[in-house]
Amino acid sequence: MSTQPHANLGVEAIPQFDLSAQYASIAAEIRTAIERVLSSQQFVLGREGAALEEEIAPVCGVAHGVGVASGTDALILAMRACGVQAGDEVLLPTSTFVATGSAVSALGTKAIFADIRPETYTIDPTELERRVTPRTRAIIVVHLYGLAGDMDPIVAFAKSHKLPLIEDCAQAIGATYKGRRTGSFGDAACLSFYPTKNLGAYGDAGMVVTNSAELAARLRTLRNHGQTAKYLSSEPGWNSRLDEIQAAVLRVKLRHLSDWQRARRSNAAEYTRLLQQVPGVMPPYEPEGLEHVYHQYTIRTEQRDALQQHLAARKIGSTVYYPHPLHLQPLYASLGHKPGDFPHAERAAQEVLSLPMYPELRKDQIARVVEAIADFVKC
Ligand SMILES: Cc1ncc(COP(=O)(O)O)c(C=O)c1O
Repeated sequence: MSTQPHANLGVEAIPQFDLSAQYASIAAEIRTAIERVLSSQQFVLGREGAALEEEIAPVCGVAHGVGVASGTDALILAMRACGVQAGDEVLLPTSTFVATGSAVSALGTKAIFADIRPETYTIDPTELERRVTPRTRAIIVVHLYGLAGDMDPIVAFAKSHKLPLIEDCAQAIGATYKGRRTGSFGDAACLSFYPTKNLGAYGDAGMVVTNSAELAARLRTLRNHGQTAKYLSSEPGWNSRLDEIQAAVLRVKLRHLSDWQRARRSNAAEYTRLLQQVPGVMPPYEPEGLEHVYHQYTIRTEQRDALQQHLAARKIGSTVYYPHPLHLQPLYASLGHKPGDFPHAERAAQEVLSLPMYPELRKDQIARVVEAIADFVKC
């Protein structure tokens, strides 16, 4: 397999993600929206945030949205609102961004990891029964890369064990499972608006969405120092408020989200069509009845590291999400896990590679990426 630098002087670089093309297409709208906030001189918990909450909730198929400062805070506050406390256990997949785990740990709660299904990279529902204990207080399902987890058995398990279910929708806003939006299956669902997400702010921002008016009210209290009225606090809380400039930016972008998701899906379909001709490379799997929103287009190959170098030598960006499953992170050394404990997640960590993916990616760029992969496989 060749990793020789290509004669690529003057060849256009294809980054793994590119926010500038998107900005160029909406710059005027964004500037108007930010100007509106500057004119209002209201920067925290104002009209833009309230409007965004109302606009996002239906995108997730629920009634309420509560804007917070980040996706990580959304997870922490959602768990707290669902009654999770220090000393409890929370079940979550080991294949995820570390934020899912660090949110659990931030509450002094023990992370109980579960393996994934190798073909979808989402939590294996049969793992829940194996890992649940009398101390389990909640389950977090992560819709990784933009694909929903297998919600029917997960919801059934949560119901039968009377456990709150929290969806980590950071990568999957708008994705559906059997026609139903992710975000509408759990007691609460958590969104990240980190800039590179499918709906990304120009800084940190997040939201918890829920169908429960009671949970939403609790979350509004928790995000603002536990205050139930001005300067009257009933419990310890946080400062985790969504700021108005980010909310205004997100409201502009939300108007374009369904077009961008369509473009991502069309790009994914093109990759998958071209990759049919390339042996030894597994494209992402979209199970029947699920609509992937391709936050990432993640392939799988045993020669992952060499392929990544081969692409880099041809000015093609790619990223490994994520090289270390949570149970093998130094952060969780005290839990005593060892290699082999979660074999599907560990193998995925060695084989996955996310290719360039963004709405503005052109078909000729996709063709160049796939040609480069095909060259690598031939060598
Ligand atoms: C799966 C997952 N969970 C949680 C988060 C945390 O979100 P944030 O970076 O907004 O805190 C992210 C994003 O970074 C994520 O990808």
